[in-house]
Amino acid sequence: MDNDVLRQAPLFSGLDDEAAESLGSQMSATRLRRGEVLFHEGDEGDRLYIVTDGKIKLGRSSADGRENLLAILGPGQMFGELSLFDPGPRSATATAVTDSELNSLGHDELTKWLNDHPNVSRALLNQLASRLRRTNDVVADLVFSDVPGRVAKALIDLSQRFGRKADDGIHVHHDLTQEELAQLVGASRETVNKALADFAMRGWLRLEPRSVVIIEPDRLAKRAR
Ligand code: CMP
Repeated sequence: MDNDVLRQAPLFSGLDDEAAESLGSQMSATRLRRGEVLFHEGDEGDRLYIVTDGKIKLGRSSADGRENLLAILGPGQMFGELSLFDPGPRSATATAVTDSELNSLGHDELTKWLNDHPNVSRALLNQLASRLRRTNDVVADLVFSDVPGRVAKALIDLSQRFGRKADDGIHVHHDLTQEELAQLVGASRETVNKALADFAMRGWLRLEPRSVVIIEPDRLAKRAR
């Protein structure tokens, strides 16, 4: 188990070495191949997951089969706790965007840890609060921002988590298809492609398959506002 990655996870961040080791020993590892579904929206769930490697998408589908992506999670991020705190079925489908590795903890074990370690509870609440803050931003953007603004914002968010600085810009290997990017910003593929092509034409970024090189991050960030 990669302790450095687990340390980034809220569950572990407030724990001393011994406690982190002990919690880690109760977790089990899962590997997913790219495209593999871990669980479906509506399934019963009894585990919390932490991404240790790769990327996981959380999505929901409408009755007529359209998909919306709630989030793309990377190393250190957790999911699968809602069905514990608000008992009910899984609220989204979790699918591996790339080959991925996860560590998971049963809800019963998690509950014990939360009872015994107030700092773990606090860290979890902190994560849930920041997710609610982000979700409020997403809802506001759906109402107030245009599609290019939402695309710019999604790229900035992806670059902050998955980007690597290089001489020619920030390389963001998001691993998403254009369809998935469109599902993430809640717009059609055509409109999202048009926005990306426009940014590329202005010299703000360079498009590559499943990745983008951001050349003018400040301009993109301004467009995201
Ligand atoms: P659960 O409902 O058990 O399974 C799906 C998980 O997706 C859910 O727990 C949360 O951990 C996660 N999830 C649901 N909605 C969001 C969201 N808006 N942003 C990030 N993660 C989410």
